[in-house]
Amino acid sequence: MKLSAIAMACACAGLASAASASELRDEALDLFQPLPSTTPAVNDNPITPEKIDLGKALFFDPRMSASGVFSCNSCHNLATGGDGSMPT
Ligand code: HEC
Repeated sequence: MKLSAIAMACACAGLASAASASELRDEALDLFQPLPSTTPAVNDNPITPEKIDLGKALFFDPRMSASGVFSCNSCHNLATGGDGSMPT
């Protein structure tokens, strides 16, 4: 008898957490949207292939640093997802 009461309590607790997980997911879906498949353009500044090429060239150009040694990619290495995996 006592064991079945405990089992019932556990089952109810499991249902309650399943319900709250579902509620949490619904709440999250209201707050967050999927990332856009393309970068949104700034008003009056449309994205063009030329601008994309320029940005790419500057990102990898070490002349962007005072020493002429570092590019953005030195720290934001795109091969590792854009960060150095180091704590900031
Ligand atoms: C010497 C290493 C280094 C270089 C070179 C570097 N960054 Fe960063 N960058 C960092 C670090 C470290 C952070 C994170 C700073 C923090 O979170 O406090 C950061 C943060 C950023 C952020 C996020 C800022 C924010 O407010 O969240 C952007 C965007 C960025 N860098 C762009 C660039 C661009 C573009 C270049 C090249 C022009 C560049 N970085 C070059 C180290 C670097």
